[in-house]
Amino acid sequence: MNIPELIRKKREGDSLSEEELRFLIGGFLSGAVEPYQMSAFLMAVFFRGLEPAEAATLTKIMMTSGRCYDLSSIPGTKVDKHSTGGVGDKVSLVLAPLVAAAGAVDPMVSGRALGHTGGTLDKLDAIPGYRWDLTEEQFIQQLGKVGCSIIGQTDDFVPADKRLYAMRDVTATVESIQLICASILSKKAASGANALVMDVKCGSGAFMSSEQDARALAKQLIAIGTELGMSVSALITQMNQPLGVTVGNTLEVLEVLDVLEGGGPSDTRDITVELGAEMLVLARLADSVPQARKRLEGLLDDGSAMAKFQEWIAAQGGNPRIVDDRSLLALAPDRDHLRASRAGTIVSMNTRQIGVAANVLGAGRVVQSDVLDHAVGLEVHRRVGDEVAAGEVLVTIHHRGGRGLDAARRLLENAIVLGEGRVAPLPLVLERLDKNTR
Ligand code: URA
Repeated sequence: MNIPELIRKKREGDSLSEEELRFLIGGFLSGAVEPYQMSAFLMAVFFRGLEPAEAATLTKIMMTSGRCYDLSSIPGTKVDKHSTGGVGDKVSLVLAPLVAAAGAVDPMVSGRALGHTGGTLDKLDAIPGYRWDLTEEQFIQQLGKVGCSIIGQTDDFVPADKRLYAMRDVTATVESIQLICASILSKKAASGANALVMDVKCGSGAFMSSEQDARALAKQLIAIGTELGMSVSALITQMNQPLGVTVGNTLEVLEVLDVLEGGGPSDTRDITVELGAEMLVLARLADSVPQARKRLEGLLDDGSAMAKFQEWIAAQGGNPRIVDDRSLLALAPDRDHLRASRAGTIVSMNTRQIGVAANVLGAGRVVQSDVLDHAVGLEVHRRVGDEVAAGEVLVTIHHRGGRGLDAARRLLENAIVLGEGRVAPLPLVLERLDKNTR
């Protein structure tokens, strides 16, 4: 097979056979396909798309590019949640112990930040001692004992996605429905999950900015996930403002602790409960979403979810005392404030720019090799629809010695738009979909 011919075929909008896709992906992993050839292929897929059957085939090829975890020794449904990526999205850190406290088994394999969005592994790295590199045996043992584990992708777990994900991040080919589907579902199927709730983010801080694209992505995730043997449902959720108050790794862990204590910002709590309720229903641990919701709220309020959080963190080498001694989660030494330039109503937030602002402070990567500063980030105190007074603090900027501060300020000044009159608060969940949704 001729590599330039395969790239040309996709560039012209034709479908590739399983053999051709296998040749390209296998060749990329073995070095026979050069990185510049794969990036050209990814760009062709970005513009031309993949047929549904082609996307399903690519997902299966990626899934079996390394080892798949066998969780059959653990009884019951293994249920997970995955977000397509957002700004301030710290849900997984609350959700995994919360559903485990309700009796579910959640095998979560998470990733690092992608583009302007945050990554669960980067947030977990902010917890002193936490280890995400468990062996398969340790992962399975912990799931059996604790009910949840969040680990990272090792070199032999879906290596095709590991390599392609990093390449898409730096070649502007992330926002492709089919590539996102293949990336997410190859990992979820290989992790041993047999039920999955997708949190498809929609808005200025998401990879899908329109509801139409978010819906198309959700439908394709459900279709391919079902074909892979998983029960899948999806919530399309708001990403036209950051989720919760904090953006940045240690700050987000602090917000997670607030939510696990029964407090925290209501949007972070409510979306976690909504996604968790879907998970309990899929795992047949609740008969209905309202019943599951009530149960999960009780577990947040009575301390059970926090106790499970401590058990999970300790099991993976992290220091569970962060719960009682928050000084163990040190923030950057310097603070600055973005104030409202005038009185008015917040009419919109360019959430992508807010994510980029956190990144330039050091909370995320601007180039692949960047080392993160977990202690920097933002607290966004106000939401769309809020009325603010002139000079009021809109954002607290946690920085280290001014690194990235000017650029972050400029981004934030443009990102938060003030206007006149009443603006409705943004809804949290835009739509729920499952395999019966037309
Ligand atoms: N999350 C993933 O795991 N992959 C993507 O491509 C986008 C979000």
